[in-house]
Amino acid sequence: MQRGGGRQSLGRAPPAPLVCLGVGRRVSCPPAGRGSEGDAPPPSTQVPSEPSPERWSLLCTGKAHPCPAPSERHSLPFTPALTSRAQVQRALLALTIPLEALQAVKDRMLQAMRKGLSRQTHAQANVRMLPAYICSTPDGTEKGDILVVELCQSHVRTLRVTLLGDGNQSPQVTYKIFDMPGDITQGKGEALFDFIAQCLRQFLAGISSPQHRLPLGFVFPFSCRQTQLDKAELISWSKGFSCSDVEGKDVVQLLQSAIKKQELHHVDVVALMNDTVGTMMTCSMRGEPCEVALIVGTGTNSCFMAEAQLVEMAEEISGQMCVITEWGCFGDDGTLSDILTPYDQHVDQESFNPGEKRCTHPPERAGHGQGKEGSGGSGAPAERAGLLPGAADLPGGGEPRRRALRCWAGCHPQPHVPEPGPSPSSFSGRFGEILQSVTGLLAPECMATLLPSVDGTGQGAAVVTAVALRLAAQRHEVDQLLAPLQLSRADLERVQALMRREMELGLGLESHANASVRMLPTYVRGTPDGTERGEFLALDLGGTNFRVLVVRVAQDGIRMASEIYVIPTAVMQGTGELFNHIIECIMDFQLKQNLLEQVLPLGFTFSFPCQQLGLDKAVLLSWTKGFSASGCVGQDVVQLLREAAQRKQHLGLKVVAVVNDTVGTMMSCGYDDPKCEIGLIVGTGTNACYMEEMRNVGTVEGEQGRMCINMEWGAFGDNGCLDDFFTDFDRLVDEKTINAGKQRFEKLISGMYLGEIVRHILLALVEKQLLFRGKPCPKLQTRDIFQTKFLSTIEIDGLALQQVRAILQDLELQASFEDSLLVQKVCQTVSLRAAQLCAAGLAAVVEKMRENRGLAQLAVTVGVDGTLYKMHPRFSQHLQQMLRDLAPNCTVTFLQSEDGSGKGAALVAAVACRGAEP
Ligand code: BG6
Ligand code: GLC
Repeated sequence: MQRGGGRQSLGRAPPAPLVCLGVGRRVSCPPAGRGSEGDAPPPSTQVPSEPSPERWSLLCTGKAHPCPAPSERHSLPFTPALTSRAQVQRALLALTIPLEALQAVKDRMLQAMRKGLSRQTHAQANVRMLPAYICSTPDGTEKGDILVVELCQSHVRTLRVTLLGDGNQSPQVTYKIFDMPGDITQGKGEALFDFIAQCLRQFLAGISSPQHRLPLGFVFPFSCRQTQLDKAELISWSKGFSCSDVEGKDVVQLLQSAIKKQELHHVDVVALMNDTVGTMMTCSMRGEPCEVALIVGTGTNSCFMAEAQLVEMAEEISGQMCVITEWGCFGDDGTLSDILTPYDQHVDQESFNPGEKRCTHPPERAGHGQGKEGSGGSGAPAERAGLLPGAADLPGGGEPRRRALRCWAGCHPQPHVPEPGPSPSSFSGRFGEILQSVTGLLAPECMATLLPSVDGTGQGAAVVTAVALRLAAQRHEVDQLLAPLQLSRADLERVQALMRREMELGLGLESHANASVRMLPTYVRGTPDGTERGEFLALDLGGTNFRVLVVRVAQDGIRMASEIYVIPTAVMQGTGELFNHIIECIMDFQLKQNLLEQVLPLGFTFSFPCQQLGLDKAVLLSWTKGFSASGCVGQDVVQLLREAAQRKQHLGLKVVAVVNDTVGTMMSCGYDDPKCEIGLIVGTGTNACYMEEMRNVGTVEGEQGRMCINMEWGAFGDNGCLDDFFTDFDRLVDEKTINAGKQRFEKLISGMYLGEIVRHILLALVEKQLLFRGKPCPKLQTRDIFQTKFLSTIEIDGLALQQVRAILQDLELQASFEDSLLVQKVCQTVSLRAAQLCAAGLAAVVEKMRENRGLAQLAVTVGVDGTLYKMHPRFSQHLQQMLRDLAPNCTVTFLQSEDGSGKGAALVAAVACRGAEP
């Protein structure tokens, strides 16, 4: 059922209804100033006048009069008035374009369209091919009360559309049309938007408008750079509009602010669309999906559903996305110069934007629509030029014909048209016939059905808005689900304070046992001073790779050779094989390096929590990061290594130092930067060490100097102090690990766990029907299937969403555009939280160091390693940014370790050997 509305004139004074218009068959917005108040007149009365078929027929065949050659076309004199019939005929012939020329125009249009679609050439393209962020045509389930505001050439149309969700065959529509004061299109932007908002208020006052939230779709038929459905920057005005302070601004925001001023607080602008899009959507509601729309009215434009991967600017990856061609500018670079006549050039020169929008319907070029007054006088341009008595009187109507052909030549390259079937009525009479027939000639492989938009753009706009609304509701649900993972600054300050407290507890002799941060002494008392020398073996166990190295420290620098060895899971988690395996790897390495005969001192990076009793004595306190080899916890790992060497009859092993990877990293970076007094790992696990004052280390005797403390901060929170920050997802991840309840801080931050957190969130989103259309994803149920390295890829800046999709496809997940964006958002949320928590921990460390040293400002370097830190595109940036915020009195430099911590272990071994020398 449809109900009519009324036309109002809304100037500075309160508006009064003037005219009532029904929904009519038309090409674009109905012209102003017709109709009367009351119910809608029958559609036929709303059809804009078209030249009669008889009048068109003369030139339509193109045979009766041969077309002038391009050169002839250009040489036609532009005369203020044509007096003889022959002159008129000649002038008209100039406006005729032969089929071959149209074919060439079509090819150029195709080229221009490709240029607009490509990311590389988009900026220079005339045909801009603007993504509309609409990925599907309506499916009929759209439902609800929607407001629509349509900004037209000389009026504003307001509608309330009630979509019933029953296939959208019979939406209820109430509308009103408001004439715009003449000067408003050239005045201040603010006045224009205020006017629109006033219309809306008047409209709502006249209907029984519900007080609950009313979503609004805004039909804004100008060239906009859209970045989402409700974000659209006006690129440039056209059609005689030139309001100040609007170009370059988000018009959704401008309208929303104006609406607020009218105190319509329940009205929300949720979607903006071009009139082409509204038309396409309206036509889609009539059965067959309509995938191309054409506007030939005051201006001309088209849109179509493009294959998503072609729309590089939108990063759409699957399915389709609606693209607005903005083909009105086709030819602005001279592409059409061979078909332009002096009349066209004259019209162009007279227009308010000479040289621009050369493909556009002349009235727009002249700066006003439908023959209304504008900058260049009144009437059609040909009339104004004195060329013709009136376009409608022309035999054959040269101008409209040419326009039709050109539009269709451009429209054709989008081959999708509905299936051949019962042909609906033609596109506004003769104009449509020509479109249809020339399309057939230029694109014989395509079958286009022309469907006049009898309902304007309003209903389509309502559908788009309803879809946007559904998406917004989903976004809200997503936000709620992700909210617990988003930490405020106050949260992070609290984490920092808790870390500081745990550090103090860990250092204190009495409190040590109850601290979750163990603060283990390392017996490393200084960073390298450059005098270290010698040749060493080194082991690096506990990160992604197990490495055996030979390190030569000489005056001219450090040289290293290394091999990576695999530690099979069975060995990692088995019974007693781990150290045998390590010795076998050492022997293999020595053999390869021809070092079997030499007894080299060995530095052992062992990246697990150890109670160190000396530089070469380290009792394993617990396994972390998926290791669980039996018979090791509670044992001195150096001793375990020596015993294994004996078992394997490898007698040339001399272990002189065992260090944690944080310490190895700090020493390694400290060799290059003496300010490096902190070691940080953000990889499979996470941990930090730093130089603490001996006087503060209650667990080791002695007050002088400093000692490196291995914080083992991965266990921070194991005593419950971080419980407020754990989400359900974190708990699910923790429960399934082999060390449930342990390493809780590490499980929020490090590479071994982030992918799992993301996986659990994705599962929850699927369950809530917010992702993958709620379809069950069996593969996503598999533990560890979503690896942290996917986060590093998915979050790469400017990554084509296609790649996100490829990753998801490997997991047998068929992701839509929205799905991919959502997965990206989840990854970003999880990695951001990790970086921020890491920053809070580090802030506690640097602040303590600053206070220890009684400094107003501390300058310190952090040596850092770990796959997550190194590979993730944003982690380091977020970490450093947050750290600056939380510890403003510390200037912290990050030095990435390029050589691994084995080098640092060798340096520690070098110091140990030097100390042992007589
Ligand atoms: C390496 C170090 O570069 O980084 C190791 O040499 C350290 O000692 C590791 O354990 C940490 O990162 P990941 O990502 O391998 O756990
Ligand atoms: C784990 C280990 C710790 C190591 C860190 C980084 O947290 O317990 O010793 O430093 O991972 O590899």
